[in-house]
Amino acid sequence: MSQIRPYGIPLLLFGFLIVSAAVAADPVPTTVTIHADRPGATIDKNVYGQFSEHLGSGIYGGVFVGENSPIPNTRGFRNDVVAALKELKVPMVRWPGGCFADEYHWRDGIGPQEKRPVRINTNWGGVPESNAFGTHEFFDLVEMIGADAYVNANVGTGSPAEAAQWLEYMTGDQATTLVRERRANGREKPWKVSIYAMGNETWGCGGNMRPEYYADVYNQYAAFMKAQPGAMPELLASGDHDDQTVFTSALMQNVRGRMDAISLHYYTILGPRWENKDTATGFSEAGWINTLANTLRMDGFIKAQDELLTSFEQKRFGGAPRRKTGLYVDEWGTWYKPEPGSNPGFLVQQNSLRDAVVAAANFNIFHKYADRVRMTAIAQTVNVLQAMILTDGPKMIRTPTYHAFRMYTPFQDAVSLPVDVRTATYAYGQWAVPQVSASAAKSGDGSLVIGLANLDPHNPADVSAVIAGAQVREVRGEVLTAEAMDAHNTFEKPDAVRPVEFRGAKLSGETLIVTLPAKSVVVLTLR
Ligand code: AHR
Repeated sequence: MSQIRPYGIPLLLFGFLIVSAAVAADPVPTTVTIHADRPGATIDKNVYGQFSEHLGSGIYGGVFVGENSPIPNTRGFRNDVVAALKELKVPMVRWPGGCFADEYHWRDGIGPQEKRPVRINTNWGGVPESNAFGTHEFFDLVEMIGADAYVNANVGTGSPAEAAQWLEYMTGDQATTLVRERRANGREKPWKVSIYAMGNETWGCGGNMRPEYYADVYNQYAAFMKAQPGAMPELLASGDHDDQTVFTSALMQNVRGRMDAISLHYYTILGPRWENKDTATGFSEAGWINTLANTLRMDGFIKAQDELLTSFEQKRFGGAPRRKTGLYVDEWGTWYKPEPGSNPGFLVQQNSLRDAVVAAANFNIFHKYADRVRMTAIAQTVNVLQAMILTDGPKMIRTPTYHAFRMYTPFQDAVSLPVDVRTATYAYGQWAVPQVSASAAKSGDGSLVIGLANLDPHNPADVSAVIAGAQVREVRGEVLTAEAMDAHNTFEKPDAVRPVEFRGAKLSGETLIVTLPAKSVVVLTLR
C-alpha cells in the first residue's frame, strides 16, 4: 500500500517564469496575459471530481449514518453533508476505493442491509466493514447530489467475470437474471456508470504488479467489459504515481482494445521519503513552502505523461484526429500526519488555508492540460486526507479546501484560455516558488473567469492583467485568506476561514489591476 510508495527528490524551480527574488518589501509586480483570442480545450467539469473510499469515517458516519440515526438524514444519508455537496456542484464521485476496491466484492453490498456480510477492512484500520453502503446506496448518493458515477472494479482479488457481472447489474436493461435481481433490490432503471476503472495502484496495494503484467491483465479485463449500446462507460487503466511513467509506457505499448484513459496518483507530502509528513496545522514556514513547492511538481508530472502519451499517439494514429487518451488524476491532495488521538489507519487530518492554496494551485495546473486531464478526484470528500467536509457526530464543517472548490465552480465546463505569468519568486530556506499561480477560462455565458493564488505568506502581490481578444467592463470576485498560514475551521468556529467579497480588483482601461493579499486564493468573474 501507499506507505511503500517511492518518492522523488524535491525540485527548486518550476515551469513558471520567475523574474527575481522578492522576499521582503517592494514586491515585484506580477504581469498576467490572458489569451482570450486563443481559446483552448474545454475544462471538463469532472476535473472537480471527488474520491470517497470505505476508509475511516469517509463514508460511515461522514456521509452515511443509516436511517435510524438521530443525525437528520434521508434514507440514511446525512442531510447536512448532502446539502453541502450539492452546493459544491460535485460533478463526479469515485467509489469504492482506492486500496479498498481491490478487496471489494460487489455482491457483499446488495440486498437487505441486515443480511450483508461483515468483513474486515484490511487496508484501513482493520475494522469491521458492514457493507451497509453498497452499490444501491452509492448511486442513491450520486443521484441525490447530481453527480456522475465513477466505479472502481476489483482486479486485485476479483475476476473479469465478477467485474463484467457488476457492470451488467448496474447498466443492464434487459430481463437477465442479474437485472431482475437489481430490480428485486429496488432499482428498476439501469444506472449510468461514467467511468469504470480496472484496478487501483496495481504497482502497490492493487497487486504489486509489473507494468507489462498489468497491461496484459488490463487487456483481459477490458475484453470482457460489455454493455448495451450507449451504456458503455469509459474504461480507465490504473497508471503511474508521481514522476513514474512506466505504466503509461507499458499500457500504450501493449493494450489492444479499448482504453479511454490512464490514471495518475500524486499526493503532496514533505518528502523526500514517503514517511516524512507534516502536521496539518501548527506547521512552520518551511512546512508551508515545502508543501507548496511539492504540490507544484504536479505540473511536471502531467507534462511528462502528456508528452509520452502524445508520442505514442503519433506513432499509433499518425495525424488522424481522435480524442486523446485521458490522463485522469484520480487521487491527489495533501497527506499529513494523522490528527493526534485518531486511528492512524483512518487518515484524519485538519485542513487549513495552506490546503486551499494547494487546491487552487492544482486547479490552475489542471486547466493548462484541459485536453488531456479531463477528470481528477481529490482524496477524499469527507473526513479523510484533504477533505472538503469534516464531521464530528452531528456536527459538520466546511474546510478551506471546500471553499476553494466552491469558488472555482465557474471553471467547470468553461473553455481554458492560455495565460502567460511573469511573477516574483517567494523563497524561504532551500525552497523557491513562483509567488502567483493563475489560470483563466471563458464560461458558457460569455464571462471570463480568472483563478489566482498568492503563495507568499507575507507579501501581497500586485498583479496587472491584460486580456488579449476580449473586452470587459465589470469585475467581481471572492477572496479566501486569513491571518495565519494554518488558519482553519473548527466545530467551535466553523467560519473562521471562509470566502468574502473581493474589493482588490479594478479595471483601468484595458488592464485589470489586482492586489492579491498574502496567502490568498481569489477568483474573479469579468463581463
Ligand atoms: O486515498 C488513500 C489511499 O491512497 C488509496 O486507497 C490508495 O489508492 C492510495 O494509496
